[in-house]
Amino acid sequence: MRFLQLYLACTSLAALINATSTFSPARPPAIPLAVKSPYLSAWISAGRNGGNGGYLAGEWPTFWEGQITGWAGLVRVDGHVYTWMGLPGSTTVNQTAYEYTSTKSIFTMHVGDMVEMKISFLSPITPNDLRRQSLVFSYLDVSVSSLDGQSHEVQVYADISAEWVSGDRTAIAQWDYGVTSNGVAYHKVHRQTPLIFSEHRDQAEWGEWYWATDNAESLTYQAGADVDVRREFTNNGRLRNTNDANYRAISNNWPVFGFAHDVGAIESTTSVLFSIGLAQFDAVQYAGSSDTLTPVPSLWTSYFDSALEALEFFHNDYDTSNAMSTDLDDQVARDSVAAAGQNYLTITSLSTRQAFGATQLCGRGEGPYIFMKEISSNGNVNTVDVIFPAHPVFLYTNPELLKFLLRPLLEIQESGHYPNSYAMHDIGTHYPNATGHPDGNDEPMPLEECGNMVIMALAYAREANDTEYLEQHYTMLREWTNYLVDDALYPANQISTDDFAGSLANQTNLALKGIIGIEAMSVIARMTGHSDDASNLTAYAHGYINRWQTLGIAHSAAQPHTTLSYGSNDSHGLLYNLYADRELGLNLVPHSVYDMQSNYYPTIQNTFGVPLDTRHQYTKGDWELFTAAVASTSTRDMFISLIAEWINQTPTSRALTDLYDTVTGDYPQITFIARPVMGGAFALLLLSQGP
Ligand SMILES: *[C@@H]1O[C@H](CO)[C@@H](O)[C@H](O)[C@H]1NC(C)=O
Ligand SMILES: *[C@@H]1O[C@H](CO)[C@@H](O)[C@H](O)[C@H]1NC(C)=O
Ligand SMILES: *[C@@H]1O[C@H](CO)[C@@H](O)[C@H](O)[C@H]1NC(C)=O
Ligand SMILES: *[C@@H]1O[C@H](CO)[C@@H](O)[C@H](O)[C@H]1NC(C)=O
Ligand SMILES: *[C@@H]1O[C@H](CO)[C@@H](O)[C@H](O)[C@H]1NC(C)=O
Ligand SMILES: *[C@@H]1O[C@H](CO)[C@@H](O)[C@H](O)[C@H]1NC(C)=O
Repeated sequence: MRFLQLYLACTSLAALINATSTFSPARPPAIPLAVKSPYLSAWISAGRNGGNGGYLAGEWPTFWEGQITGWAGLVRVDGHVYTWMGLPGSTTVNQTAYEYTSTKSIFTMHVGDMVEMKISFLSPITPNDLRRQSLVFSYLDVSVSSLDGQSHEVQVYADISAEWVSGDRTAIAQWDYGVTSNGVAYHKVHRQTPLIFSEHRDQAEWGEWYWATDNAESLTYQAGADVDVRREFTNNGRLRNTNDANYRAISNNWPVFGFAHDVGAIESTTSVLFSIGLAQFDAVQYAGSSDTLTPVPSLWTSYFDSALEALEFFHNDYDTSNAMSTDLDDQVARDSVAAAGQNYLTITSLSTRQAFGATQLCGRGEGPYIFMKEISSNGNVNTVDVIFPAHPVFLYTNPELLKFLLRPLLEIQESGHYPNSYAMHDIGTHYPNATGHPDGNDEPMPLEECGNMVIMALAYAREANDTEYLEQHYTMLREWTNYLVDDALYPANQISTDDFAGSLANQTNLALKGIIGIEAMSVIARMTGHSDDASNLTAYAHGYINRWQTLGIAHSAAQPHTTLSYGSNDSHGLLYNLYADRELGLNLVPHSVYDMQSNYYPTIQNTFGVPLDTRHQYTKGDWELFTAAVASTSTRDMFISLIAEWINQTPTSRALTDLYDTVTGDYPQITFIARPVMGGAFALLLLSQGP
């Protein structure tokens, strides 16, 4: 997890907002709009450093990396036009409320006291239905109703620009308009010359974008220059049903793809549905157990014969998809509130889409695989120490998903395509190229990744009751445990997952992960009938954990606590690796250590959290939530309320960062955006759920 320093330009123009919106359960730093994969990732910046405070109108939606992805919404009420999304120029509607759930962002807008709009963005999550989960699509539902009981003439308009199809604004876009046999009208937009498996500013340079709606009587459409298409609607409330075929650069008279629905004289509620998504036949290049890279198709290609068939299914599936997503929303809400109250739900529900949004289901015949992008920090594929912090959300929703994430890592290493004696860091330096590391020159994080692999293998097997999995991978897991036995008690000078904080020898928290990994392997050995290994390894683990308590605890401090590294009695750090002891039910670490840490954290809290360690003022939200999950109730609630408060207050304006300053609430030197590690918010839910 190497970091990238991003010097961010302010891309949004905050407009004057007349009305004040409520935000429930919080005003997030960025509001998720369409967030479904590493490439379908549209947000509205909300935090004050770059955002407009959380208003859909008056600012352009952006790709997670910050570049504008033009997405505009207009409404015409009795002949007057207002903007409800983006910054196309007209007076904005008044946003009165914003609300989010795990899968939805819902805005309420008022046009005078005449009309109310409910604008719902749904990025469906169906963890147990792979066919639906494999589709890289998202919904936008716009419903309008009369506020004053009078009848009003209403037309609803929305468009996307060609900015969605490439990160290079000089790239030539091409487009087409059509209607499927089941009545779905669509604009198809793509790069004229696709660059397969390439990215520009993290946007995909290949695949077809679809922007669709019902081919109803009410519908008109138009593709053309932004000013022309929007003026046509503004003046007439309808479009010309024409398709400008002058294919050109994205920034050359900005081509946009508009739909207008004349919903007529509304008295009761009427709604209009749009779908947006990306169809890539081949999604990833992967070496796997062979020596050559092979394209791996998107998993949806095993359920649908064509992109149009997939689009048509998705668009017509809104009721079912919405109901399934609502079930997930309700489950997360119920479980989060029961586990630790509303503040906790504020965090889990904001993290769900973000975690799933870094992944993509792939495969046909073989697999399925889940490929995950280490968004923003470096683009690595299936980074082990990113899967590890994220893994609670996958185990909680469907344990098989963790198996699909680990599959390519095991395939590459079990087939002998990785030369080091320890576990590899990732399966490719940049998404979507899962080239592996046959030269062994990946970012070395040996103790961290060996521990992570063994711990996650057992965590999956327990949740899924899949002992056969442990038998299948026994040899590899046992080999990594040799490394743990050698290195865990006195870790060599190395980086941990928190590589941005620097390398260090004898890291107390890292040692703990290794020691827990050894005990986890002894459990794996016992479950699979390797009783010699089981007793050998548990003896190591218990011997080590006793030594570790002498080496890693500042016993004589006024408030005893574990140190950052052995012997540095004035240092401290979040002991987040303790989580795995509880998660796996190992009971390796004495209760006294849990209690000691629970008593210590409140003494070092800052305004928005507890620092990651003594080297910096910043912290990691994911690791705070791992730490909180195994803390006493009062210390757990302290962590959770500090993070929920931070979400509401942070000036950061990009999709939820996991790295923030505990005093200012802002980014430190490093800007992390939209990383899947926030799936770690579900750490506590995994414990309350039990295997
Ligand atoms: C928004 O609210 C302000 C203040 O109440 C009002 O002056 C303005 O007309 C409203 N705008 C719309 C589009 O409803
Ligand atoms: C992936 O590899 C291809 C060559 O096979 C290259 O053209 C492309 O730029 C790479 N993509 C990324 C994002 O590095
Ligand atoms: C777990 O798997 C074993 C062997 O497949 C089976 O006998 C047992 O009933 C399963 N337990 C649960 C709780 O499903
Ligand atoms: C116990 O495990 C260690 C580390 O994997 C190994 O070196 C040693 O040979 C094992 N001892 C026995 C008796 O199996
Ligand atoms: C690690 O700690 C042990 C015990 O305090 C010490 O002997 C050793 O020198 C330390 N290792 C490094 C590289 O500092
Ligand atoms: C740290 O504290 C331990 C006892 O808790 C003590 O044995 C050790 O000498 C101290 N180390 C330093 C460098 O002060």
